[in-house]
Amino acid sequence: MVKVYFLTSNYHKLMEARKILGGYGIEVEPIKGEKVEIQSPSLIEVVKFAAEYIKDKILQRPLLIEDSGLFIEALRGFPGPFSHYVYDTIGLEGVLKLLKDVENRKAHFEAAVACLCTDDRVEVSTGRVYGKIAHMPKGTKGFGFDPIFVPEGYDRTFAELGDEVKNKISHRAKALRAIALRITELYR
Ligand code: IMP
Repeated sequence: MVKVYFLTSNYHKLMEARKILGGYGIEVEPIKGEKVEIQSPSLIEVVKFAAEYIKDKILQRPLLIEDSGLFIEALRGFPGPFSHYVYDTIGLEGVLKLLKDVENRKAHFEAAVACLCTDDRVEVSTGRVYGKIAHMPKGTKGFGFDPIFVPEGYDRTFAELGDEVKNKISHRAKALRAIALRITELYR
């Protein structure tokens, strides 16, 4: 069994990573530490920089760093890389207010995952899930913007659908599955 660290303090992200990577025989252990976040419209640049920043630390296992966000078409991609801050400040209600009377509800979640390998190589993967913004929050599962995001092909929010569906189709699931294949190649 390959073991990896995951630099995160988000319990939900950890649970999702454990479920998804577990399917590849990869065990995930959370690790605390500073995730240095540059301001960039590109999530790939954000995770790459954060991984490069801790390169000189001696690692016994590969380390994963993830960044994600919600990109709303009618708001030209906002909140995107600022999703965490927007969630903590104006929250779901604030985002719904920005979209009041806006017909175009199209949005996508994106996740980027960097794997800092034990030989200092940095591998990066990304994933997206397309969908639309609901008119009101619904559901109690998941976290963040899950109660207002309805993925394509469904008529319920991620917060209503729950982990089983989310872990099959989400941005994070896609990015983690791609990195899992890379880790499997490198460590077996
Ligand atoms: P960060 O990656 O920790 O900077 O935070 C990204 C922010 O985007 C989170 O705090 C959430 O508000 C939002 N977000 C990212 N992924 C998800 C998701 O899977 N569900 C709901 N919200 C998400």
